[in-house]
Amino acid sequence: MDRMRIVLTGDRPTGPLHIGHYAGSLANRLLLQDRYKQYVMIADVQALTDNYENPQKVRENVVEVALDYLAVGIDPAKTTIFIQSLIPEIAELTIFYLNLVTVNRLRRNPTVKTEINQKGYGENVTAGFLMYPVSQAADITVVRADCVPVGEDQLPMIEQTNEIVRTFNRIYRTDALVEAEALIPKVARLPGTDGKAKMSKSLGNAIYLSDSAEVVKQKIMNMYTDPNHLRVTDPGKVEGNPVFDYLDAFDADVKTVQEMKDHYQQGGLGDMVVKKRLLEIMQAFLEPIRSRRALLSQDKKAVMDVLKKGTLQTREVAQQTMSRVKNAMHLDYGF
Ligand code: TRP
Repeated sequence: MDRMRIVLTGDRPTGPLHIGHYAGSLANRLLLQDRYKQYVMIADVQALTDNYENPQKVRENVVEVALDYLAVGIDPAKTTIFIQSLIPEIAELTIFYLNLVTVNRLRRNPTVKTEINQKGYGENVTAGFLMYPVSQAADITVVRADCVPVGEDQLPMIEQTNEIVRTFNRIYRTDALVEAEALIPKVARLPGTDGKAKMSKSLGNAIYLSDSAEVVKQKIMNMYTDPNHLRVTDPGKVEGNPVFDYLDAFDADVKTVQEMKDHYQQGGLGDMVVKKRLLEIMQAFLEPIRSRRALLSQDKKAVMDVLKKGTLQTREVAQQTMSRVKNAMHLDYGF
């Protein structure tokens, strides 16, 4: 029997989830829910840090993300799913942690740095956006999670969380907070259908778990491949070719994939043949998710009930953590 671990992850509800989310972290969560105490958080507060002018979008996507979770098989009997904004202890912890982090350290967080550049915030970055890693440290520590299954872009967040945990425990002479370990998937991050490094809504290069069969077909048939692979007989490149990256992530028949790669590199294997195989694999993977999702979306009240129950459970744990934290900080007034 494994040591009892506590797992927490989350997603920003800014759109439906795509196959990159699946490969990056949903697949690991499906494995972890059978073995450990798992929490999955819908990060509406974090979503607002770059969508504060669009609260309606965040609100709508809370339900979409919850539907994606349930459709892929995150089981509310095993996993506690909750909404971030309904756990006020996370906001409280964030305020305490902010004293333990310098603004310079936040500016150097590689993920935040990249996002500030991508979004063009420059010097006008809001305090809320700059400090969201601190809020993320509160997400993780509020349930005392020691395992965080995420994509590799989240590694700097876990590192920063652990710095805060160590500083807190040292300064307040306590063991109230627990360090966490990231669990990174074996497959590298999935590129977009256009071959760009990241699958994202804004780039329009994502395949969503909720896409119809027709849309999936269109997206796969139009995928970027090796641009120099002009004739079937030409040797083709497998590196930087997203069709093969997706096969690596979703085709369980590793041997056949390897044979196709060899054949493609030698020349004589056409893009269409590879894409057709990928299409079959993806449809077989997505079809059951799609139909479960359609069924679940007919009863939004049941979905909200799952979130309510999970949120109430999480609050109990959060209150326990909060009382330990306040005790260590001499903020226990007894009334
Ligand atoms: N930052 C994560 C993302 O963009 C979402 C997230 C918020 C998260 N809080 C978390 C992930 C806590 C893991 C643990 O995908």
